[in-house]
Amino acid sequence: MDGKGVYIETYGCQMNFADSEVVSSILSKAGYTMVADIGEASFVLINTCAIRDNAEQRIRNRVRELRARQGKHPRLRIGILGCMAERLQSQLMAEEDNVSFVVGPDSYRKLPDILSRVAEGQRAAEVELSTVETYADIEPVRMGGNGISAYISIMRGCQNYCSYCVVPYTRGRERSRDPETIVAEARSLYRDGYKEVTLLGQNVNSYHCGGVNFAELMARVAEVSPRLRVRFATSHPKDLSDELLHTMASYDNICKCIHLPVQSGSDRILKLMNRHYDSAWYLDRISAIRSIVPECSITTDVIAGFCTETEEDHRRTLDLFKQVRYDYAYMFKFSMRPGTYAEKHLADDVPDDEKTRRLEEIIALQGQIALENNRQELGREYDVLVEGPSHRNKEQYFGRNSQNKVLVFDRNSVEPGQYVRVRVTDCTAATLIGQLVD
Ligand code: 5AD
Ligand code: SF4
Repeated sequence: MDGKGVYIETYGCQMNFADSEVVSSILSKAGYTMVADIGEASFVLINTCAIRDNAEQRIRNRVRELRARQGKHPRLRIGILGCMAERLQSQLMAEEDNVSFVVGPDSYRKLPDILSRVAEGQRAAEVELSTVETYADIEPVRMGGNGISAYISIMRGCQNYCSYCVVPYTRGRERSRDPETIVAEARSLYRDGYKEVTLLGQNVNSYHCGGVNFAELMARVAEVSPRLRVRFATSHPKDLSDELLHTMASYDNICKCIHLPVQSGSDRILKLMNRHYDSAWYLDRISAIRSIVPECSITTDVIAGFCTETEEDHRRTLDLFKQVRYDYAYMFKFSMRPGTYAEKHLADDVPDDEKTRRLEEIIALQGQIALENNRQELGREYDVLVEGPSHRNKEQYFGRNSQNKVLVFDRNSVEPGQYVRVRVTDCTAATLIGQLVD
């Protein structure tokens, strides 16, 4: 160890993975070496998530586990980045005495300075949030990626204040990144051989910078090359515009896939969640997607057992799932987060075993719908971007179609990064199985 090795571990959402690439860039420029083997590290940075209590508990366990390693390497320093650092600030260092520093999502430019201070035995907490920081000038170091598909962060923060959500407190006010720097980053990725970019933000539909809105930004990125696929996440139903849908329809390389978190099918619960739409509005947006971008896949997030949720509210969520027929859903049990509106004003009154039962009911229904949706795919052909060997069977490759569905097929002579044509011959609820078509 020369004292300059940095190992980063990332938890949570895609934004966090994108942020870790920004951190790597900042530290590499300052003379640190990003290492893939924790054994070579003098600093372990953990980029954390605070969205649910179980995400935080997992990270706490990891921090405690690292104590053993520090016993053998007394100069090893541990730092906490990201949402949990922002939420808990120096309290985290008081509770976990083997943590030397906490750094919130808007303070990553200070990391070189912080690392040199903690190497000398100091402790540091930098958690100020910014209204302007977008790291626009920092070219992320793509670590651990496949060289095919990359994230581009286009905005930061969130100010929707959904009543259950900690993100506005951990990531601060919403701000959009200069479109020129976004397009330049996409161009440079394409030149480096990347075939797919995903534009990231907590609510990409409210992107606006210098007169450019999200639909225009998507068009500009799509113009980089017809061979570069463009995806985006996440959309808020209240801001999903027809203009964006028309833009999606007019570019073949804009992927036909929308992640549109619904959270609940009950209007009463949606109001308590401060979502600014009701189920009729949401279903209207689904109809708009189906009519303007007919081949689009739709995915969602849902929370089971939010404050005061009744059996009838829960039934409405199940009914909405039956109506929309999502291709995929991220399904969660409600977890009360300190500092949110829900924590201050609502009661976490659905018993845990009831939350679990409702969640399992949603999962079972969604599994059945996903399988039925996939059965409809039998016989269809798709352009698939090959990503690499299938996890199950190394003789096969996997890739994704524009709809973001995973297809698995025999390797033959294709290579990762190539586009191939695949006919669907079989499926499970999660995967399409196919054959290469000449
Ligand atoms: N409890 C459970 N799930 C939550 N999410 C956000 N906050 C909470 C919470 N307190 C879910 C939402 C969001 C996704 C990223 O995480 O569904 O869309
Ligand atoms: Fe977790 Fe939300 Fe922070 Fe992402 S933004 S890391 S999901 S708390």
